[in-house]
Amino acid sequence: MRAAPLVETDDVVLHFPVSGGGPLGLSRRTVKALNGVSLTVRPGETIGIVGESGSGKSTLGRALLGLEEVTSGHVTFDGIDVTSGRRQDLVRLRHETAMVFQDPMNALNPRLRVGEAIAEVLRVHKKVPTKRIGQRVAELLGLVGLDPALASRRPQALSGGQCQRVGIARALAVEPKLIVADECVAALDVSIQGQIINLFIDLKERMDLTLVFIAHDLSIVRRLCDRVAVMYLGRIVEEGPTEAVFAAPRHPYTAALIASIPEIDPDIPLPAAPMQGEPPSPLDLPAGCPFHPRCPYAEPQCRTDPPPTLRRRDNHGWACILDPSHLPPPATRLPNATGEHP
Ligand SMILES: Nc1ncnc2c1ncn2[C@@H]1O[C@H](COP(=O)(O)OP(=O)(O)OP(=O)(O)O)[C@@H](O)[C@H]1O
Ligand SMILES: [Mg+2]
Repeated sequence: MRAAPLVETDDVVLHFPVSGGGPLGLSRRTVKALNGVSLTVRPGETIGIVGESGSGKSTLGRALLGLEEVTSGHVTFDGIDVTSGRRQDLVRLRHETAMVFQDPMNALNPRLRVGEAIAEVLRVHKKVPTKRIGQRVAELLGLVGLDPALASRRPQALSGGQCQRVGIARALAVEPKLIVADECVAALDVSIQGQIINLFIDLKERMDLTLVFIAHDLSIVRRLCDRVAVMYLGRIVEEGPTEAVFAAPRHPYTAALIASIPEIDPDIPLPAAPMQGEPPSPLDLPAGCPFHPRCPYAEPQCRTDPPPTLRRRDNHGWACILDPSHLPPPATRLPNATGEHP
């Protein structure tokens, strides 16, 4: 039997009111960051959230941790309603979740030595008796592959990769049931990225880590994640087991994203412009399927019908009225927006 979900979002809508539109800059407008997101994360699972810039990945990550107020819908974490606004729910959430940030250098207080930065978390969360804090800091540094002697250094004396390991140690210090990592390797050199991903893979095997891993980089998500959710303009357009999604994507957007991953093999040319243009503004979403203006397969009804909801087969969901057999296998080139094969 599959474990009960640890985190569930049910039709989450999150709109940010912003001012500044209109001739005098006075009119109120709305950034439609999340537009009905339903997602389930089970204990021990690593789920990757991918999608272009502005698709709502960070907003979703923050909503999971109760850091954003949702406009409608629900987020449930381990049986508590994150969206209730009740103080005791938020306090429990703070003690049972942690975040790893993008910019490891700036995420650490420059005045605190590394050991103090980790000890601070242990104290706030009352994880170990005061006399055991030093020992636990050393254990955590070892767990993330750092020499415990680094505890006496300040962040400026560390490399970016070492700072990110400290960031991960601080997250692990919470002993969280859930970690949300938002673009946590994007600021690092490629070789260091690989080392941090290996660390996550190792931690996944050694601990019962539940990880929501937000990233632009699909090849990293493919290496690390059990499942992947693809976002487009505040919606999940495809979601399923990582290998199934990469081997046979079912949504034209996912197919185009995968087609734009640089091939390791230089003899395989990149498809010419697998996806046309930029996503529409979340201030002004198109009618119909939000992907239709860029979709090479769009039918007339894609422009007018309500956005398709996720339909599922074999635990793999996609939000498109077309049958995935429309899509070419991932290794072949996609037609461009005018339907011509390059
Ligand atoms: N506090 C806010 N106020 C107004 N708009 C916001 C706010 N936070 C995010 N947005 C907008 O919501 C949309 C989704 O943003 P979000 O940061 O979640 O995207 P993302 O997928 O994480 O992008 P990136 O890959 O660039 O990090 C964007 O249009 C963004 O400008
Ligand atoms: Mg983001």
